[in-house]
Amino acid sequence: MSAAPPDTPRAPPEELLRGIQLSKFFALPGGTLKQTRVVRAVQDASIEIAPAETVGLVGESGSGKTTLGRLLLRLSEPSYGQVWFEGREITHYHERDLRPLRKSLQVLFQDAAAALDERWTVEQIVAEPLLIHGLARSAAERGERVAELLRTVGLSPELRARRPHELSSGQCQRVSIARALALGPRFIVCDEPIAALDASDQRRVVELLGWLQAERRHSYLFISHDLRMVLHVSQRVLVMYAGRVVESASAEALRVGARHPYTRALLNAIPEVDPRRRRLRVLLEGEPPSPFQPVSGCPFHPRCPRAQLDPCQSEVPVLVATEPDGAHEVACWFPHG
Ligand SMILES: Nc1ncnc2c1ncn2[C@@H]1O[C@H](COP(=O)(O)OP(=O)(O)OP(=O)(O)O)[C@@H](O)[C@H]1O
Ligand SMILES: [Mg+2]
Repeated sequence: MSAAPPDTPRAPPEELLRGIQLSKFFALPGGTLKQTRVVRAVQDASIEIAPAETVGLVGESGSGKTTLGRLLLRLSEPSYGQVWFEGREITHYHERDLRPLRKSLQVLFQDAAAALDERWTVEQIVAEPLLIHGLARSAAERGERVAELLRTVGLSPELRARRPHELSSGQCQRVSIARALALGPRFIVCDEPIAALDASDQRRVVELLGWLQAERRHSYLFISHDLRMVLHVSQRVLVMYAGRVVESASAEALRVGARHPYTRALLNAIPEVDPRRRRLRVLLEGEPPSPFQPVSGCPFHPRCPRAQLDPCQSEVPVLVATEPDGAHEVACWFPHG
């Protein structure tokens, strides 16, 4: 499929990025009769992100957060739905058409040390995007830009000759941020960027991301298991469960009046570090449904204290606005009032 034609309608100017009813299904080989099994990683998820806004995305492991982030960055093509960026539909753009947009769309990962190439120096890592996009004319200019980017993220330019294993986790995440900033991005997916850091580094990296946004006006999708942390950094928050968005509201509205029983459970859960996976998991009763055997009805009903036989066990609730302004939506047959 080809790039959108030039007369593609423009989205309203206050919108930077929009995902419309996005679904991503993965086909996996396997099963007893060698039939294909399908993982419904994301189903019917819609999201809008304004310039300079931080939208939080929260949910347990396997709920589809990273997959949704990758769809918005067009690192992955949706099975259904649309992605719009700066007023253009980019759902089926080829890599060639995406290339000029790659400068604007960046990502930070949880394990920055693992995401950085061990063999490269800090200078090479930060300079690479400048080289790829031809943004520095000479080696001297590139060196200048790298030093400036390192200072911007609070690192001494003297670290430029070091390699990732000679840096702390917090320093590695700052190097990743410097690299992401090199091309002047409009949108950065922060995929659990502080989960592997100690408490003081977490605070400092969150502060840094906030300062950078105030200065540069880019937008973030901030992904985490920890709803309380997401509420702290985001203006709006989407809660995902088993591939679906089950609640969407301003951070303030969720803090004082979460409507979905799952969101309420997350607010009361204690995130803890899972030593095997070095990531936060949320302590909730029961397990999310297996991606191979989706439950009938509401995917949360087996764990839900408010579930009734009918309709919770037979019909999937869709997102509906709780107020006339549409700012707070919940997918639940019996939401909290
Ligand atoms: N490339 C892939 N091929 C097959 N299945 C995949 C692929 N990527 C993700 N999945 C599956 O899709 C579901 C959602 O995964 P995803 O990584 O988006 O969840 P997540 O919310 O980011 O989880 P975590 O908190 O553990 O990072 C999971 O069941 C996962 O196993
Ligand atoms: Mg993930």
